[in-house]
Amino acid sequence: MTQNGYFARDTQWHPPALTPGYKTSVARSPTRAKLSFPTSLSEETGPVFGHNILGPLDNDLIHNFAAADQSAIGPRIVVYGRVLDETGRPVPGALVEVWQANAGGRYRHKKESYLAPLDPNFGGCGRVITDENGCYEFRTIQPGPYPWPNGPNDWRPAHIHFSVFGQGFAQRMITQMYFEGDPMIWLCPIVGTIDDPRAVESLVAALDMTRTIPMDARAYKFDIVLRGRRQTFFENRAEGL
Ligand SMILES: [Fe+2]
Repeated sequence: MTQNGYFARDTQWHPPALTPGYKTSVARSPTRAKLSFPTSLSEETGPVFGHNILGPLDNDLIHNFAAADQSAIGPRIVVYGRVLDETGRPVPGALVEVWQANAGGRYRHKKESYLAPLDPNFGGCGRVITDENGCYEFRTIQPGPYPWPNGPNDWRPAHIHFSVFGQGFAQRMITQMYFEGDPMIWLCPIVGTIDDPRAVESLVAALDMTRTIPMDARAYKFDIVLRGRRQTFFENRAEGL
């Protein structure tokens, strides 16, 4: 709802903390009233990064963990989009960090228990900073779906985890991107905690054949809106930055 240019926050956008269909939410959801901690000035205003933190392959997950002359196994894709504020203005200088499973659906993590094999040439994380138009882009392989211990046969749809840092260290948003046309999206108990299908659709990247690289990679477009009526659904903060 907009009044005189003010975008009222929709606190119903985010599901409740306790959603028993997502089993671990039962133990994790608060049972007492929330406390808020005051933030310090440096947390709110302090710059936390610059372009000099980025390495040349940080936005290329196909190669950033691979041996020389090797590349990650899997369907090669480009993921691109813009980080926008509630009025559609671009957000430049935002640090976008991504992490994901490999093409078989396995993470490179010591607690990973899925039997799919590791890819020796795939690490599974990368980062990029938005340009002056709020644009970001990275190359990767399409992750596979994976089973997880929730119900007897629950699977996560293919997804990429996103973190977006704003101008200060305390401004961090976390979400997941899904892929257009994946039937597993609507079967996932974590996605199922989100009541509003428009919130789910804000997390689904569209296949964009205009940005594909012929004989190399398909492209998916994923815009991230930080606040307002078109806000992307975030896991960690209902009301945006
Ligand atoms: Fe995941």
